[in-house]
Amino acid sequence: MRILFPAAEVAPFSKTGGLADVAGALPKALARLGHEVLVVTPWYAKLGGGASPYWVGDVPSPFDRGFEAVGVGVLEDAVPGTGSLRYAFVGHQDFRRARPYGYPDDARRFARFSRAVPSVAERLAFVPDLVHAHDWHTGYLPMLLARGWHLPPGFPGLRSVFTVHNVQYQGESSLEDAVRWLRLGPDLMGSYLDHFGRANAMQAGVGFATRVTTVSPTYAEEIQTPEYGYSLDGTFRSLSGKLTGILNGIDTDVWDPARDPALPEPYSAADLAGKPAAKAALARRFDLEARRPLLAVVSRLAEQKGMDLLVAAAPGLLERGWSLVVLGAGDPGLEEAVADLARAHGGLVGAHIGYDEDLAHLVYAGADALVVPSRFEPCGLSQLIAMRYGTVPIVRATGGLKDTVRHGATGFVFEHATSAGLEWAAGEALAAYGTPVWRRIQATGMAADRSWHASAAAYSALYESVLRSWV
Ligand code: ADP
Ligand code: GLC
Repeated sequence: MRILFPAAEVAPFSKTGGLADVAGALPKALARLGHEVLVVTPWYAKLGGGASPYWVGDVPSPFDRGFEAVGVGVLEDAVPGTGSLRYAFVGHQDFRRARPYGYPDDARRFARFSRAVPSVAERLAFVPDLVHAHDWHTGYLPMLLARGWHLPPGFPGLRSVFTVHNVQYQGESSLEDAVRWLRLGPDLMGSYLDHFGRANAMQAGVGFATRVTTVSPTYAEEIQTPEYGYSLDGTFRSLSGKLTGILNGIDTDVWDPARDPALPEPYSAADLAGKPAAKAALARRFDLEARRPLLAVVSRLAEQKGMDLLVAAAPGLLERGWSLVVLGAGDPGLEEAVADLARAHGGLVGAHIGYDEDLAHLVYAGADALVVPSRFEPCGLSQLIAMRYGTVPIVRATGGLKDTVRHGATGFVFEHATSAGLEWAAGEALAAYGTPVWRRIQATGMAADRSWHASAAAYSALYESVLRSWV
């Protein structure tokens, strides 16, 4: 099957979070299952992974009352053994910025991107059987396929799958702007595009896609409630018939303690001897007392992630014997609070405020436990990575965390998003630390198959059913 796979961030070329990991790894797994995949993503100012796409040329793309030129770059054979996977980069001065998003004109930038995707695919002679779009940035695509004009042959009426990675971010703008940018008729006002009088790219994706997925089964249930739906819970409830949850995997080529160049010594489930070496290296890096059990965080510092709960619980955790390493960036207030914590507790708390891929590998390997106290978590990858590195997750029971960590079996789980809940679970973990229970939890986590294999097969089955269905 030919799958067109547009995404705002794709590892290793660009990354702000787990969406990039998914858009990096799932297409590889789909290609290995025999699908032909074209991943389309913006051509940002700096591409990671040493990528240097070859320039194909300009294509005209319909936008804002006329047509405009967007550039097309391509990477082929980017991944050995997956000859049927290509990456297309969409060039426009709007995308040539330091970060993928976080700008006031994001809604227009990604309307522009979504509009360009079919033209870019056509330029590369890629006529898809199906489009698989992700999050609000590409939410307009299912609507364009269903109702748009100026589409290349093969695109009108094309079926689509839309995956919700995080419903908190919805890509809102004024309705008038959105229909003008996208070159749509005024009849789209009052459709799924329209959310209380504003254009909403997330809702457009959910409403117009043939099928909708979320990145864990529990999150698919949660977003149908006011607590987690961020005002789209009614939409999700009314469309629950086409909504399912498919758990993310992790890229086991990238995340493998047995062949991870960022670690001082390799290790595996069969021989954990290299793990203390990673802990020692991490303790040296942050000047920490090496003998204490070490708790870690690798995370965006955002309200979603419950980092304020960790900051509140930290003094109690240190008192009970833990040390702590935080690797994260995001909300300035939380960055400050974490930096303060490290300043106030030298020798016990280490913090690196920033984004650092290599350090992340060392933290996952060197820590004894990883804490993920999220208020909501559509899937969460860090707990999956931690488990693969023999690092025990301590998580709140929400979304994908609930679906992937079992209390006492593969980690420690607390119910309520409070610092008391977190302290309780950390206490349970500390009681098990150094006992056979801990080693069993480590072994069970390391043995679990977290590769994309099973989830890619689930997407593949979904694509088949989408092509067979009547709607
Ligand atoms: P989200 O997408 O909500 O941020 P996920 O757990 O799905 O959460 O994915 C986060 C990804 O980003 C993981 O691969 C994690 O290792 C990585 N990550 C988060 N913060 C940092 C950081 N400061 N430095 C390096 N990697 C980070
Ligand atoms: C989002 C979610 C995260 C999920 C990731 C990849 O960023 O916050 O939970 O793992 O997308 O699907």
